Amino acid sequence: MRKNIIFFWSATGNSLHVAREISEHFWANGESCELVSVAAWRGESFRLDEGYEAVGFVFPVYFGGIPSPFEHFIEQLNLSAVHDAHIFSVVTCGGSGGNSTNADLEQLLNCKKKGLSSAHTITYYSSYYILHTELVYTTRPRSKVQTQAGDRKLAEVVGAILARRPTKIPRMNPLYHFGYDRKRHSLSHCDERFVTNRHCTSCGQCAELCPMNNIGLVSDKPYWQHNCALCLACLHWCPNRAIEYGTVSRFRERYHHPAVTAKEIHREKSQGPFSQTIDFRNKGR
Ligand SMILES: Cc1cc2nc3c(=O)[nH]c(=O)nc-3n(C[C@H](O)[C@H](O)[C@H](O)COP(=O)(O)O)c2cc1C
Repeated sequence: MRKNIIFFWSATGNSLHVAREISEHFWANGESCELVSVAAWRGESFRLDEGYEAVGFVFPVYFGGIPSPFEHFIEQLNLSAVHDAHIFSVVTCGGSGGNSTNADLEQLLNCKKKGLSSAHTITYYSSYYILHTELVYTTRPRSKVQTQAGDRKLAEVVGAILARRPTKIPRMNPLYHFGYDRKRHSLSHCDERFVTNRHCTSCGQCAELCPMNNIGLVSDKPYWQHNCALCLACLHWCPNRAIEYGTVSRFRERYHHPAVTAKEIHREKSQGPFSQTIDFRNKGR
């Protein structure tokens, strides 16, 4: 049986949906495909065994590049046992930065004397609250239309990956990174603006889902510990709309890919190789 593996990072489900679809199609094709969530990774080294015929990276664009924790994971990922594999990426985004992000990944892999065989970008509805996410009183919501368009592109991408069809790999555009790189790598304290409102029921889901394990609970209320990736999983998944980012998110819709649930995001995180049992309650203060 041909053996494949996909590493992924997902906060609001777009990339998880993509990774899962590719994996399910591999299985339906008589091939195996492991899904490895990089959520909760804390710097452990990871060496990929030999024998994989396709190695995939599926993740969102954050500020025109690779989400910083995922980038650090790839930096240390040992691929020396990988020979002749089809290495592919699928970047999900809200409309811009797919090429520069794929180019970033290519450069990271080149440092390991590897390279992408195919690079894909799928535009979904954006999870970034300030620029894209719709106002709650929008009468013609874009999210459904954009998600359907993304899923149609996904079907094409899945076909290309299963056929191990090579694509052109985008070149790095340094101009695109102007201003963005610093932003992407200095997010940890941006969580100072998260606040909870009176609708918080102390369910603790925000802490469970956070891929950085950045949220602790004191008297069952969340607090953010300044190791944030600004992925916004806490804000988008809160079942009671009890989390805001200052005032900018107040009248903005919450989003997640409709085929993905909070339970599934949590399951992927807790069954991943980097999971650990964490008691979030009354921790650290
Ligand atoms: C902090 C942050 C920065 C983002 N920056 C960009 C960007 O530069 N360009 C873009 O098209 N989308 C951007 N997005 C949107 C995400 O790339 C997009 O919604 C992605 O599909 C989310 O993937 P996920 O649902 O798997 O978490 C950003 C989202 C976040 C949270």
